[in-house]
Amino acid sequence: MSEIIVSPSILSADFANLQNEVEELEKCGADWIHVDVMDGHFVPNLTIGAPVVKAIKPHCSIPLDVHLMIDNPQNYIEDFVKAGADIITFHYEAAKDLTEDIISHIKSHDILVGLSIKPKTEPQEILKYLLMVDMVLVMTVEPGFGGQTFMEDCAKKIPIIKQNAPENLIIQVDGGINDKTAKVCKNLGANSFVAGSYIFKSPDMEEAINSLKD
Ligand code: DX5
Ligand code: ZN
Repeated sequence: MSEIIVSPSILSADFANLQNEVEELEKCGADWIHVDVMDGHFVPNLTIGAPVVKAIKPHCSIPLDVHLMIDNPQNYIEDFVKAGADIITFHYEAAKDLTEDIISHIKSHDILVGLSIKPKTEPQEILKYLLMVDMVLVMTVEPGFGGQTFMEDCAKKIPIIKQNAPENLIIQVDGGINDKTAKVCKNLGANSFVAGSYIFKSPDMEEAINSLKD
């Protein structure tokens, strides 16, 4: 795996053609496949669940990076593990006092665990968990929809997390990521980029993915 992890979001893919879409992403150099799970409560949108993860699993050999934007994430961990998730990221705002338990639960399945924060959550709130997780996902838009504009203020959280993190913590950003905003985040210390519309709207997905690694 290269130093930078690019995780294209299939939220912008053709849902009628997901097998081809994930196969194409892999051919074009994606490191992970980002799967956005929304429940219509934690965020005002509904997307996909564990059955879709299970359906795409046999068609990709790269890790499935599952981003849970749902309330009560603790109730769904088993389903996503069984479906084939390789990384499960949940939101601190949905977990609060249960954060440590959920981290342990995910880790007990020998997969990677990520902790995410929304734009209004201060990074200081999650510093105590940095030694327990593999990844922190800093949202750079309000979660819920693809195609929104990058919030530069959110990127200021990256160095705060970096300064307090162990060397190998993955710092991922998600929302409004393109070649330019990825560079801003990379300079601040991020090393994993989720991008939906930028990659899928590009005439050349391989070039778009590579541009996030520059
Ligand atoms: C937003 C999702 C993102 C989304 C990103 O709530 O978590 O992963 O797909 O889409 P773009 O890259 O279009 O901002
Ligand atoms: Zn996401």
